[in-house]
Amino acid sequence: MDQPKAPEAHHDAGHAVEAGLYREAMSRLVAAVHVITTHGAEGRAGFTATAVASVSDSPPTLLVCLNRRIRSAPAFRHAGRFAVNMLAAEQQAVAEAFGGRGGLEGEQRFGVGQWHEGALGLPCLTGAVAVFHCRLVEARTIATHDVLVGRVEAVTLGPDRAKLAYLGRGFLTV
Ligand SMILES: Cc1cc2nc3c(=O)[nH]c(=O)nc-3n(C[C@H](O)[C@H](O)[C@H](O)COP(=O)(O)O)c2cc1C
Repeated sequence: MDQPKAPEAHHDAGHAVEAGLYREAMSRLVAAVHVITTHGAEGRAGFTATAVASVSDSPPTLLVCLNRRIRSAPAFRHAGRFAVNMLAAEQQAVAEAFGGRGGLEGEQRFGVGQWHEGALGLPCLTGAVAVFHCRLVEARTIATHDVLVGRVEAVTLGPDRAKLAYLGRGFLTV
């Protein structure tokens, strides 16, 4: 059966999609908010990320997309391990600090929120909804980003309460 024609504008196949159009469409994707952390020779580092996805449960594997322009990007490759902290609704200030707001860098960011050392010796956010403790099994550069593939070696389940999400360039609670 024929699909009905969409009334909205669309881009012709075969032409490059303009980055602004792509970003606008992606801003309509509801995404959970995480802070990805590591601890390497350079000390602790972390950044806020919505580009997190499950790859498999056998064995438990996930991926994170890390912009190579982020100052701590090399630290994530070198350390070979990272933690994915899924944020609760009341942890928006942590998301902002690790998203670069306020100009906090490196270790300074850990002054926002309560942090402790987790299963693999990685910085874990106290009160996070869940924490995935990962060993880096593959890092592939695609366009502007490093796609970090992590084998999940431990999981910490926090209280199952309201979560922080990102939609339309703003935070919301789900
Ligand atoms: C809600 C939100 C989601 C973000 N998602 C990502 C992401 O998935 N991947 C990424 O590389 N950067 C993401 N960022 C941007 C990085 O957190 C930001 O560029 C980084 O903290 C800058 O670090 P630097 O100042 O040390 O370079 C996101 C920021 C916010 C506020």
